[in-house]
Amino acid sequence: ELVGYPHYMLKEIFEQPEAIARTIAHTKVALEQLTIDTSIIEAVTIVACGTAYHAGLAANAMLEQMLNHPVRVEVASEFRYRKPIINSHHLVIIISQSGETADSIAALRLAKAEGAQVLAVVNTKGSTIAREADSVLYTQAGIEVAVASTKAYTTQITVLTMLAAYWGGADISAALDKLIHQVQRGLELDGQMMDLAEALKYEQDVYYIGRGVDAVTGMEATLKLKEISYIHAESYPAGELKHGTIALIENGTPIIAIATDSELVEKMKSNIEEVAARGAKVYIFATPACAKAFGAIAQEIMLLPSTPLYFSPIAAIVPLQLLAYHTALIRGCDVDQPRNLAKSVTVE
Ligand code: F6R
Repeated sequence: ELVGYPHYMLKEIFEQPEAIARTIAHTKVALEQLTIDTSIIEAVTIVACGTAYHAGLAANAMLEQMLNHPVRVEVASEFRYRKPIINSHHLVIIISQSGETADSIAALRLAKAEGAQVLAVVNTKGSTIAREADSVLYTQAGIEVAVASTKAYTTQITVLTMLAAYWGGADISAALDKLIHQVQRGLELDGQMMDLAEALKYEQDVYYIGRGVDAVTGMEATLKLKEISYIHAESYPAGELKHGTIALIENGTPIIAIATDSELVEKMKSNIEEVAARGAKVYIFATPACAKAFGAIAQEIMLLPSTPLYFSPIAAIVPLQLLAYHTALIRGCDVDQPRNLAKSVTVE
């Protein structure tokens, strides 16, 4: 089944172009059949765990703009116990690869009991979440075997972005046509990620910084690095650093800065200068437009494909998945079966 790949994780990272292409084709049809009554929706809450939670965060801004209603994103284990105010004017979107995550199932049942409409974005056909939701949009990632989620994540963002555009009446077909090629371009950074993994292999802490959707990409990238390489990593919205965490930056601290948003690039530049001035080794992942702004401040710039901002979480995570993979591999970790983790968390 591995067909030439040493690990499922690597295979699944490289399957992303086809998984996304299948998801796009399927979602175009599925959206036309969706029976959600948007006219009564006044607020949206997205609920999920782990990587699926990050997919919700990645699509948050696009959904809010397109729906023109407040959208919040919550971790299922928090949502289910905090007595949230939910009613029949609420749409609750549950995101889950397995469709069997205990906290996400509990969140779904709570939302239904309070009268909300519930939409599930799920990968596994016939799973509990798919069966119990009012409506389902299936990601077409195919079976994901590696514990660390990769293609489920990028297909989740694909579905949520298409949903947002559909509801907002925005035509993103040109961007969808280019997306597969841009993901392939992200995969082409594999060799550079092997080199960067060499540079990170003995590190104990790595910090990721970004703004807007790039901060979300940082969150997902740190989760990948932590779960398979066991290196401690933290992700910060770049502007939040100076409210505490910058105290940890010293000579040689590795920082991965992600910059895909041209409107925020000058802000990122000053954040990078702040950490570089304290001796941090800064590795920048930037689109060509953003890279231009950085000049000589970075040790190295990894060029990300340019996409519309709503697809940058997809294009930007691909090389960072590869970075986590190669770092774990060099450190001799069990990439597909990391310690203490299960593929599907069916108990609290
Ligand atoms: C991380 C990872 C987990 C899952 C989380 C939710 O790589 O795989 O964080 O994303 O356990 O699982 P699902 O999506 O099956 O509900």
